[in-house]
Amino acid sequence: MLPINSSQKLSFTKSIDHGDLVIIYERHDTMKAVKVSEGLSFQNRFGMFKHSDWIGKPFGSKVYSHKGGFVYLLAPTPELWTLVLSHRTQILYIADISFVIMYLEIVPGCLVLESGTGSGSLTTSLARAVAPHGHVYTFDFHEHRATSAREDFERTGVNSIVTVSVRDIQGEGFPEEFCGRADSIFLDLPQPWLAIPSAAKMLKPDGTLCSFSPCIEQVQRSCEVLRTNFTDIRTFEILLRTYEVREVKMDACRDSNNESPKKPPCKRRQMIGANNGDDISSPTVMAKPSSEARGHTGYLTFARLKCL
Ligand SMILES: C[S@@+](CC[C@H](N)C(=O)[O-])C[C@H]1O[C@@H](n2cnc3c(N)ncnc32)[C@H](O)[C@@H]1O
Repeated sequence: MLPINSSQKLSFTKSIDHGDLVIIYERHDTMKAVKVSEGLSFQNRFGMFKHSDWIGKPFGSKVYSHKGGFVYLLAPTPELWTLVLSHRTQILYIADISFVIMYLEIVPGCLVLESGTGSGSLTTSLARAVAPHGHVYTFDFHEHRATSAREDFERTGVNSIVTVSVRDIQGEGFPEEFCGRADSIFLDLPQPWLAIPSAAKMLKPDGTLCSFSPCIEQVQRSCEVLRTNFTDIRTFEILLRTYEVREVKMDACRDSNNESPKKPPCKRRQMIGANNGDDISSPTVMAKPSSEARGHTGYLTFARLKCL
């Protein structure tokens, strides 16, 4: 379903068809991936939606249930897929993923090695980044996870540019056939330092590596090993701050005698108001950091292969 075909533009102009994967969007925290099937229907608190009503509509359409409730049908982009996929492991989220793709310099045509595959959250974004002519080879030693990831890549349509293999990368390293061929390597492993010597052999001169680790002790051990073959070693922690932005009527702040308050409530301390004047009767835009914001996920350590 992702637009990875070289003849397609990187946008979803096509309309929804039988067999397509769609993201059913109720609100930003209530989404579900569903495969469209002519005879089926989708049920939620807003009523029953017939899949047959969706066929022929463009992605992004607002569709109605028999009770008049509505949802949006969105295209299954990697950004949305990351939010709806089934978590078989810890996964990488958008803040880390976007930084990884930028800092590893992953562009169309790249050959990327990854381990472990986990739930395939990062892999799906890597696939779109290297499409249409590049390839992602991803390795996980857990057979069942590898199978589930393969099934997901078929559902999202990236299977032609992702190959999943079962292999113990910490024990055996990457397969010799990739020696000197990889543009970039990504590691999300419990003991990445064990895989780093093999990763160094796989990279092209000047190739880039990234290792994701939740604990600073893992980072420290990885950096010690990286120093042998790598340069420009840097570690980042990516913290994302999301905001709730809405318009509020300051009238709501009047006291019980319906008299104007002298000051807005103390909540204002945490909020940034976009109404510059003191006119408390006009709507004011309020922005406050979202309570859903994720804290520490892990450290991203990047390094570049030394050319000796
Ligand atoms: C945290 S998950 C990776 C999540 C993934 N980055 C994502 O975004 O969905 C780590 C994965 O590494 C795999 N793994 C652990 N040790 C491994 C090894 N020695 N070789 C290959 N895979 C390994 C685990 O089975 C697990 O699926």
